[in-house]
Formats: sequence, structure tokens, C-alpha cells
Amino acid sequence: MKLLVTGGAGFIGGNFIYYILNRHPEDKVVCLDALTYAGNMETLASAMGNSHFTFVKGDISERETVFDLFQKEKPDIVINFAAESHVDRSIVDPGLFLHTNILGTGVLMDACRKYGVKRYHQVSTDEVYGDLPLDQPDLFFTENTPLHTSSPYSASKASADLLVLAYHRTFGLPVSISRCSNNYGPYHFPEKLIPLMIANALNDKPLPVYGKGENVRDWLYVEDHCAAIDLIVRKGREGEIYNIGGHNERTNLQVVKAILSELNKPESLIRFVTDRPGHDRRYAIDPTKIHNQLGWKPVTRFEDGIKRTVKWYLENRPWWEHIVNGEYQNYYARMYGNR
Ligand code: NAD
Ligand code: TYD
Repeated sequence: MKLLVTGGAGFIGGNFIYYILNRHPEDKVVCLDALTYAGNMETLASAMGNSHFTFVKGDISERETVFDLFQKEKPDIVINFAAESHVDRSIVDPGLFLHTNILGTGVLMDACRKYGVKRYHQVSTDEVYGDLPLDQPDLFFTENTPLHTSSPYSASKASADLLVLAYHRTFGLPVSISRCSNNYGPYHFPEKLIPLMIANALNDKPLPVYGKGENVRDWLYVEDHCAAIDLIVRKGREGEIYNIGGHNERTNLQVVKAILSELNKPESLIRFVTDRPGHDRRYAIDPTKIHNQLGWKPVTRFEDGIKRTVKWYLENRPWWEHIVNGEYQNYYARMYGNR
């Protein structure tokens, strides 16, 4: 089986590539990634020597690049992680999100139609459902919850989901979609809550908490997400949407305090700052469908996952320090420029 993984130099795609190379050593993996600010070849350094792994630098929205790659590699399964993924950046520059997240998805699916794939899988997000109130803890997102987006990021992801379902209905493309809650774990870019707080705390810098820190996210350890996607692309039904989440809800303040306690750093580092415009209050996934149909359930409790994550950032300081000082962006040219 040959898998094309887009966005594999990013956080979840990178973890997914290692998951596949370890769990399915018979498979071949091709990664297509444009290496935007979020793409980091240092994340894929350990995969580069594997004869079952190929890296291609390219943009999913560039038709010629994508079609040439499909012609050459003829992937069986395409898993699209490539996206602009940060809500705060989408508030500053929405256009880029529409281009990559919607048009890029369309180009990939056109190539899937032309060259024929067994499955096109779209990695989506629970943010397409909007948010839930803080005072009704019994409410959860199911696959039938209406789309109701808040940010340009979530609107672009919801648009892409609709396009994927349209390609299934109109062209019969064999698709699936997963909508996952917030991930955390190794290789998470330090602009997102958990890695940013770890990096700042280690540097004794203030930890900027938006609003009162009351917003709730449903945290999933990234390896559990990878396991779910692996199951969906091999055993999940065509045309179906699967919610992925682990009933690990925490307020942002609880998360930040857990990190400080793990690092033995004082809570006086916390700074409450101006809230994010349109800030979603609570995300919470009902994962009953994927559990009943495919037997998936998360194995990592938040208490264990956050310990493992903090330990990873302590043991891999160069990885995130190169991001903070910008050095990671020269890595590709340095390592692969003359190859
Ligand atoms: P990320 O920002 O860490 O990585 C995105 C990757 O995509 C980067 O390597 C980047 O270089 C690449 N990329 C961006 N634009 C591209 C383009 N035009 N062509 C090719 N590559 C391009 O993102 P992530 O957190 O790993 O998220 C991966 C996917 O999972 C996204 O689709 C995101 O919407 C979704 N998701 C993320 C979370 C989360 O908590 N991080 C939760 C649910 C869903
Ligand atoms: P983030 O990691 O950006 O993920 P998302 O917005 O996709 O859920 O943010 C997680 C939560 O943490 C969200 O409620 C916003 C909040 N947050 C802060 O309080 N401070 C920060 O510096 C960041 C980046 C996020």
C-alpha cells in the first residue's frame, strides 16, 4: 500500500508518518509539504533515511505539481493534513486559509479522480461545529451537529468538508472525513497553547492566557488521533464522517497550571491578556460512532499525556529552540539543498 500524506512536515502529519512507518513497515509513504512557516524538516529527520519514505516539497494548491506527483507515485490512499491551522493567524490573514484549505483540497481531489485512489481522507476539525456553552456540560458534538463556524480557519475547514462530500456524491470519489478535537504531543509548533506555554515557562517568560482562561478544549494525545485515522482509512466506510475525541475536557487555565506544576514553575508567570475575537467557548466531542463502528477509543489520559509531552519538550530542546530562533527554516536548504 502506498500512502500520500500531505502536510507531513507539520505536527499531526509528522506524527502520523512515524505511526505508519512503525505500525505498517510494509507500506510506502510519500509526503507532500510546501514547508510553510509551520513545516519543519527537523520533524521528519528520522524518517529521511527510511527506504519506504519519500519527501516532496510542493504546494497542494499547485495543480501541475500535484498531478505530476500522482502520475509518478500513483498513491493508493491520500490523507490530507496540509492546511493553515492557526485560528489567530486566520484572523490576521483569512485569504491564505481559503486558498490552501479549500482550493488545495479541491486540487488534491481532482488528482484523486484522474488517477484513481482507493480512499481520499480529509483531516478536519471539531471547530466546524462552532462552540458549546460553558454551562451545559451534557452537550457534545455528534456527526449530525449542524456546521456553525466562528473563525475564518473553521469556516475554511467546513467549506473543504462540504467540497469533499460533494465530490463523493457527484463523482463517486471514495472519501472519508475525520473531525478531531485539540491535539497535543511531540512536534507541536510553539504558537499553539500547550507548546507555547511549555516553551515560555522554560524560558521564565510570561504565559499569555486569553480572557479569563475559562474556555474549554477536549484534549487528545496525538498518537490516539493517528490510530483513529489509520483505522478509518483502512476500515472506515466511504462517504462517512467520524468524530474523534477523548472526553478529556479542561479549561485553558487548568492546562496552563498543569504545565507549570509539571515544570515546577510558579503560577505568577500567568498573564491574563485581551481575549481572542469570536473566541469559541467550549469544544467537546461525542466519539460514540467511531467507537461502535471501528472499536477505536483513546488510550492516553490527559494526566499521562501532558507528562509525556512536557518530558518530550525537555528532552528535545533544540527542536523547539530552532523554531523560536528561526533556524529551522534554513534546515531544508542546509540538508537537502544540493541533493
Ligand atoms: P500544522 O500547522 O502543524 O502543519 C500543517 C502542515 O501543512 C505544515 O507542514 C505546512 O508546511 C503544510 N502546508 C501548509 N500549507 C500547505 C500547502 N499549500 N501545500 C502543502 N503543504 C502545506 O497543522 P497540524 O496541527 O498538524 O494540523 C494538521 C491538520 O489537522 C490540519 O488540517 C488541521 O486543520 C487539522 N486538525 C488539527 C488539530 C490540532 O489540534 N492541531 C485538531 C483537529 C484537526
Ligand atoms: P490553540 O492552541 O490556538 O487552539 P484552538 O484555538 O484551535 O483551540 O488555543 C487553544 C486555547 O488556548 C484557545 O481557547 C485559545 C487559548 N490560548 C491562550 O489562552 N493563549 C495563547 O497564547 C494561545 C495560543 C491560545
